[in-house]
Amino acid sequence: MKILLTGGAGFIGSHTAVALIENGFEPIIVDDFRNSEPFVIENIEKIVGKKITSYASNIGNKKEVKEILQKENPIGVIHFAADKAVNESVVNPMKYYQNNVLNLINFLEIIDSIKIESFVFSSSCTVYGVPDKTPVKETASIKPAFSPYGYTKQVGERILNDFFKSLPSSSLTLLRYFNPIGAHPSGLIGELPIGVPSNLVPYITQTAIGKRKKLTVFGKDYDTPDGTCIRDYIHVVDLANAHVSALEKGLKSKDSIKTLNVGTGKGASVLDVITAFEKVSKQELNYGFGPRRAGDVPKIYSDNTLIKNELDWDAKFSLEDCLEHSWNWEKNLLKFKYKSEKKQD
Ligand code: UD1
Repeated sequence: MKILLTGGAGFIGSHTAVALIENGFEPIIVDDFRNSEPFVIENIEKIVGKKITSYASNIGNKKEVKEILQKENPIGVIHFAADKAVNESVVNPMKYYQNNVLNLINFLEIIDSIKIESFVFSSSCTVYGVPDKTPVKETASIKPAFSPYGYTKQVGERILNDFFKSLPSSSLTLLRYFNPIGAHPSGLIGELPIGVPSNLVPYITQTAIGKRKKLTVFGKDYDTPDGTCIRDYIHVVDLANAHVSALEKGLKSKDSIKTLNVGTGKGASVLDVITAFEKVSKQELNYGFGPRRAGDVPKIYSDNTLIKNELDWDAKFSLEDCLEHSWNWEKNLLKFKYKSEKKQD
C-alpha cells in the first residue's frame, strides 16, 4: 500500500519512511529538500535494504504534485512538509503563511479529486500556548499562538478539520507532537539543523563535539523544581511509529477525525537533559545560565492517555536512549557533507 510522505526526507519524515517500510507500506516521498538533503534518501535505503521512490518537488506545485498523485495513486498521506523554526517565523512570517498554510490549501485542492483513505497531519503542542495545567490533554483550550509558526499549526488543524468533515470516506488524524529528539539507532538518519540550532538537543550535541563553545540554559528562575523549563522529550522513532499506528487506524475507521498528543507523558527539565547527556556521552558539557528566552513556556508535558487507548501505542525509548542516539548521530555527521552545515556561523 502506497503512502505519500510530504517532507519525507526531513527529521520526522525520514524516520517515518523507515517505520512504514518495516510495517509493510510503501512510502512515496515528496520533498523539495529546502531543509533536508538527498543523502537522507540513500541512508533510508541503507537501513531498509531496498530502493524507495522519491520526488524533488514542492508541495505547493499543483501541477507536479497532481502528476505524482495520479501516477502513484497512494491510499494514505502523511503531511510533514512545513517550516518549523519558531524564531524564524517571527522574523519572516510570510514564509510560514506561504509554506505551512497556502501550500497546505493548494495540496488539499489536489487531493480533493483523489481518494485518500487516511490522512495524518504533523501538528504540535505549540497549539496549546501556555497551558492552564499540565499534563495537558487534547481537550485543553487552544490559546492565542505565541508565534506565526504556532499560528500556522492552529490554522492548519482547523483547515483540515473543515476539509475532512466533507469527505465522508476519509479519516483524519492530527498528531500534536511534544519535543521530538533522538535519531535512528543505526546512526544513519537524524536531525540536520540549519545554521545555529535553536533547539536544545542539537545545541547540546554540537557543543559537545566542539562546533559550539558553550550551551546557554535559558533561565534558572522558573517555578519548577530546578528552576529550568520542563518539556516532554519524545524519541523520533517512537514518534514515527505513532504515525504508522495512526495511519493504520485511519484506514480501518473511515470517516473519523481524531486529535492526539504524542508524548511520553513525562516532563524533563533542561538540567535533566544535560545530566542524561553527560551520563551517556561520558563527558562534561560546557554550559552556563543566561536570561529566559522570550516566548518560552515554563512547563508543558503531555497527557498521553488518549493515544495509548486509541492506537495501542506507547513510547519505548528513555530520555537516555534519546540522547545516546542523538550523540551517535552527531558523531556520524562528521562523515556526511551537507549543505545546511555551510550556513553555520
Ligand atoms: C518549540 C515548540 C515545539 C516546536 C519547536 C520547534 C512549544 C512548547 N514547543 O519547542 O512545538 O516543535 O519549538 O522548534 O512551543 N533551551 C536552552 N538553551 C538552548 C536551547 C533551548 O536552555 O540553547 C531550552 C528552552 O528554553 C526550552 C527547552 O530548552 O526550555 C527546549 O527548547 P527547544 O528545543 O527550542 O524546544 P521548544 O521551544 O520547547
